[in-house]
This record gives sequence, structure tokens and C-alpha cells, in this order.
Amino acid sequence: MALINEHYLKLKAGYLFPEIGRRVKEFADANPGKNIIRMGIGDVTQPLAPSVLKAFHDGVDEMGKAESFKGYGPEQGYEFLRQAIAVNAYQANGIDISADDIIVSDGSKCDTGNIQEIFGSENKIAICDPVYPVYADTTVMSGKTGECAANGYYAGIIYMPCTDENGFIPELPAERPDLIFLCYPNNPTGTVASKEELAKWVKYARDNKSIILFDAAYEAFITEPGIPRSIYEIEGAKEVAIEFRSFSKTAGFTGTRCAFTVIPEELKAYDSNGNAHSVKKLWLRRHTTKFNGVSYPVQKAAAAVYTAQGQKEVSDVVAYYMENARIMRESLSAAGYTVFGGVNAPYIWVKTKNNMKSWDFFDKVLNEANVVGTPGSGFGPAGEGYFRFSAFADRANVIEAMERIKKLD
Ligand code: MLT
Repeated sequence: MALINEHYLKLKAGYLFPEIGRRVKEFADANPGKNIIRMGIGDVTQPLAPSVLKAFHDGVDEMGKAESFKGYGPEQGYEFLRQAIAVNAYQANGIDISADDIIVSDGSKCDTGNIQEIFGSENKIAICDPVYPVYADTTVMSGKTGECAANGYYAGIIYMPCTDENGFIPELPAERPDLIFLCYPNNPTGTVASKEELAKWVKYARDNKSIILFDAAYEAFITEPGIPRSIYEIEGAKEVAIEFRSFSKTAGFTGTRCAFTVIPEELKAYDSNGNAHSVKKLWLRRHTTKFNGVSYPVQKAAAAVYTAQGQKEVSDVVAYYMENARIMRESLSAAGYTVFGGVNAPYIWVKTKNNMKSWDFFDKVLNEANVVGTPGSGFGPAGEGYFRFSAFADRANVIEAMERIKKLD
């Protein structure tokens, strides 16, 4: 008799975005002909930048010729891409990260979930509430929690509330965590952490021998000066932090798939006898065993993001989405909503009116305005009464969606 991993039975609902997709499909099937505008999942709409596309094509052409054909590539990623990342995303900004510290993968969702596997199930995990649901769900799947209580909290997870009152910046937890998920710019609230704020976390992690799992998938969307784009801008972070970055939102790779994890050699975790082990070595052991690398043409396309022309093109696309965010912020404020985010992140975090529940607001916006957003409660209990709109949309749709929402009572 095959036994299941019973931790999966603790998961309280289906994964958030397929659940939204299911409800939207149900609505669309029942209401054929309605023009539904989708601003739920943060999925890019603009095509790949010309330089990226050309490199992608060149990569495919190379695969079609005997002299340049490639079979399995290095699991960690081709040297040309890891070098391009190290030089352009880190060293050019005065951050000492080398190509050896970079491990290329097919997505940060996978990386932030899979990383749990190299840490023992005894580890205590701290996550923000609300938060990108992958962190909590994969913590449950990896057996690090008890059951989910009626209030939506899993036993064993240290929740750090991020509310209007604390500016969506969590307090340092009273109970000591072993692993701390931080995401800045934040999904879903769209807020950012200052250098001082991150320095506080790095010190806390150093003092407590904790590891910070820093999700920087949205760093390209920072528009204000002085806000850190990498945890490694903070002195001492290399000994206590892993950073996750992705080409998905930065360069329109949600359907193309490429991301990377940064693990400095200095980062250590301990066995039960207190002996230190290289976290990078463990992650590479996992990666080389379970993953055969991102395809060559995709890595060529990703490397093109770091050429001068590629940088210009992808930042123009980022600016396009951030102009959407500005329009959304202003329209939603004018419609009487309290809005957060959308300045340094492509997400607008909206307080519903009259304390309406998130899923009720989802139904209202879908039924009456035919617009899809994401219920805040889907990101955690403290997201109840909030709603997230994604700025990844076509401009005409953004304007139309805002017009429709303004007309809601
Ligand atoms: C989101 O909408 O939160 C993201 O697009 C989901 C993801 O990146 O996996």
C-alpha cells in the first residue's frame, strides 16, 4: 500500500492562483461574451525585448547545427550567464558576488519552495503575513508545521504580521526562527524595506544563527533612490542570507522560465552535532541530482538582458508596467480606496471599503466590473479585507478596468 506524504493533507485550500483561475473560468463560462480584464496573477503581458528575442533565436539556431549543438549543459547554469549575472547584477553595484555563488534555475517559485528540502524539518520558519503563498505552503509540505487552525494559521510557523499599522514592515519575531522568509519589494503589499530595516534583519540573523531567505524577484521595479535591491548591500549578509532573483517579471520570462539563486560560500548551516556545512554545497548537491539545467537558448536569452541594449529595452518595459501602477494608484485613490504599494513594486494593495471580506470583494469586482484581482486573504489571514491588483497588464485594459471599478458603489 502506497502511503502519501500526509503533510499535504494539512494544506487548507488549493494553491491560490489556480483557485482564482477556476472561479474566473466558471464566471466566463456562465457569462460568454463578457470582456474580462485579468489583473490577478502577476503575469507579464509585454513581449520579450528585441535583444532578448534575437539571442533566443540565435541559441535555437546553434542547436540546429552539428558544430554548435549542445546536449546537457552544466546543471548550475552556463558560465557565460553566471558571469553576466555576477558582473552586472552585483559587482557593477559594488557587491562582491562571484559567478560560483550563482545557481541558475527555471524559476524562483521552484527555488523558494525547493530550498526547504536542504533544511531539516526541525527548523522553525518565520514568514510575513500576508505573504507570497509559496513560502507557507512549501513549509507545510516539507513537514515543518502542525495542522492549520480555524483562524488560518499553521501551528509551528512564526507569523510576522504586516499591517497598515506597522507600514507592512514586520517586527523582529519574539520567538527565534531558524529560517526567515523576506520578500522585498514585497509581494503582495508592494512595500519596500530601507537599508536600515534590512540591516536590522541581518544583525538579528547573525545574532540568532538564522538564515534569511530573501526573495528579490521584484528588485527591477524599484523607482525611488536609496532602496536596496539586494540583501548583499547590507554588510555581513553573505554569512546569513540566500537571495532569489528571477527574469520572470524583470524581463518577461514567465513563459520562458529562468531565474537564479545566490548562495555565498560563507553561508553555513549546522548538523545536529553543531558542525558547520556549506549551504551552497548542499543546494548544488540537490540541484545536480534533481535538475538538468535550463535550456541553452533560454540562458542565451537571459544573458542578453545584461547587454547595454538589453538593459535599456527591459527597463523600458518595467517603466511601462510602473506607469500602469501609477494610473492604478491614482484611479483607485480617486475612487475612494486606501492604496499601498505601486511605487517600487508592480502590485497595488488596496483596502476594501466597509471592511468587506477579500473574497466578497473578489466576487463583486468580477461580477460587476468583470475585472480579476487577487483576494488579500489568499496571502494570509492578515490580508483579510485587502485586495491586490497587478500592474502587469496592457495599458488600454488598465484604463478600462479602472473606469469600471470607479463605477462600483
Ligand atoms: C503572483 O501573482 O504573486 C506571482 O505572479 C506568482 C508567481 O510569481 O509565482
